[in-house]
Amino acid sequence: SAIAVIVVAAGSGTRLGHAEPKAFVPLGSGTVLSVAVDSVLGMRETPHLVLVVPADRVESTRSRFAPVAEAAAAEIAVVAGGATRQESVAGGLAVLPDSVDTVLVHDAARALAPALLFDEVVGAVRARRRGIVPALDVVDTVKRVSDDGRVLETVDRSALRAVQTPQGFPRASLDHAYATAHEEFTDDAALVASAGLVVDVVPGDVRAFKITVPADLHRAEQLVAEREA
Ligand code: CTP
Ligand code: MG
Repeated sequence: SAIAVIVVAAGSGTRLGHAEPKAFVPLGSGTVLSVAVDSVLGMRETPHLVLVVPADRVESTRSRFAPVAEAAAAEIAVVAGGATRQESVAGGLAVLPDSVDTVLVHDAARALAPALLFDEVVGAVRARRRGIVPALDVVDTVKRVSDDGRVLETVDRSALRAVQTPQGFPRASLDHAYATAHEEFTDDAALVASAGLVVDVVPGDVRAFKITVPADLHRAEQLVAEREA
């Protein structure tokens, strides 16, 4: 039973505001994408890896990661993404080999998510045969507000979670959900849930934070510097 990890890296990184698309921004001695790939290749079982990148980066990404794939004895496919994250994931799903039965979808922007988190998600998908998403408790007090900025109520945060990636699914569930989706969702768990399938949470990891704004990149640089030291 084979695992695939689809790393979506085709976004432009508007909020980061860097000249390069976010996944191609330098991080440590590599890039946001290469740091993410290092984690994936640290998994207990080497997965089939699919990198989804901007169309004009497909060729250069193939060349960049060919030696990495060879050194790790891993299969790394590179495909062009779409206009939305959901389209990019669909592009990755389209090139999975038949042998794959467990699929993890991961944001390249969560470059520092540790390999162990991937292993835990794979273990939970296999044990429970359903979608699995890593999640953290919400630490801030959360308010519901009106359009004109008035506080309406404080939401009970004990039932709320902030979800991360990698999100893992039985391959058949994800294929089915993508084949039947007719709405845009911000993550794969929402898309799978919209198809009527059950998704569970497992404990997330603070290191799986998403590099979104410049302060996040700064934090990532510090963590990589500690790791590379
Ligand atoms: N992503 C993608 N294809 C898109 C949009 C996003 O593959 N059309 C990927 C991004 O590369 C990122 C992940 O989805 O790894 C999460 O998206 P986000 O953090 O929103 O990244 P961007 O869309 O690039 O950033 P922004 O929204 O600030 O432009
Ligand atoms: Mg975005």
